[in-house]
Amino acid sequence: MTSRFTLDHRLPDDYFTTTLRADVLQGLTAPTRSLPPKWFYDARGSELFEQITHLPEYYPTRAEQEILTRYAPEIAAATRARSLIELGSGSSRKTRLLLDALTAAGTLERYVPLDVSDSALVQAGEALCRDYPSLRVAATVTDFEHELPVTDEPGPRLLSFLGSTLGNLDTAQRAAFYGILRRALSADDTLLLGVDLVKDPEVLVAAYDDSQGVTAEFNKNVLQVLDRELDADFDPDAFDHVALWNAEAERIEMHLRSRTDQTVKIPPLDLSVDFAEGEHLRTEISVKFRREALEAELAGAGFTIRRWWTDSRERFALLLAVPSR
Ligand code: AVJ
Repeated sequence: MTSRFTLDHRLPDDYFTTTLRADVLQGLTAPTRSLPPKWFYDARGSELFEQITHLPEYYPTRAEQEILTRYAPEIAAATRARSLIELGSGSSRKTRLLLDALTAAGTLERYVPLDVSDSALVQAGEALCRDYPSLRVAATVTDFEHELPVTDEPGPRLLSFLGSTLGNLDTAQRAAFYGILRRALSADDTLLLGVDLVKDPEVLVAAYDDSQGVTAEFNKNVLQVLDRELDADFDPDAFDHVALWNAEAERIEMHLRSRTDQTVKIPPLDLSVDFAEGEHLRTEISVKFRREALEAELAGAGFTIRRWWTDSRERFALLLAVPSR
């Protein structure tokens, strides 16, 4: 559409199938059965997640938006970023708040959205090119859990990872991820993180078990992804949606609980999985954070928190961190 938009594919053609198979094989044969949450997001799953963000019980999106609306100008002033690199950009509702502030500050030249889905990148990228006439959009299809191909972008660079997606990673995965970030960032670059905070478990559980059942449908949709992509024979109605607060690990977990004794076949993996009645399959962890602990784990990874903002009800935090010196 315009020469200001480029799309760089960095994933091999068989990435999707190969990774899905490896993840499912590993997750369903482990002693504690689990699936990585990234497989929720096919077209239907992305649509359901969009609906979740509007539910009365699901406060994180609105809380984060409140903070961004209020502090985007301060973020722009503090970073003076020439490049905004956004991890897991998906649709770009929150991005515009940052783009507006960085454009008003007069520093921004490039927007670099990274995502595993090229359709989301193309759609969002073209609209942004239209609305920001001096912006170059360099979209990249990549899996940022493995590499961060951003070293060519003009600095200072602002790398944003919003929506508390960080909470999908456990402690060890977060440590590995911070390592990738730290190696990609230079002294004048900044990391912008959005994280959900520890709070009353009732509020948390309600956010992941809404009264309209949208989150239940979102959770079960992952079984339909496996049925379609791996020719599996999961019956989504044979599982119940479970959202629980794991107090030790301070995280919400979503599970699917088998309603009966059943066997599920996944032909391409030569796999038969038995589920006893009441047996769980964990589909997501959503870690909730405390400032001190997050500060400590970031310090251990070579980052210093410079700014910390919360929404008016202190449910969610947005923070700026820089490489420690
Ligand atoms: C997109 C990973 C931040 O953990 O809150 C919403 C996904 N799962 N409801 C979250 C989600 C169930 C979400 N993240």
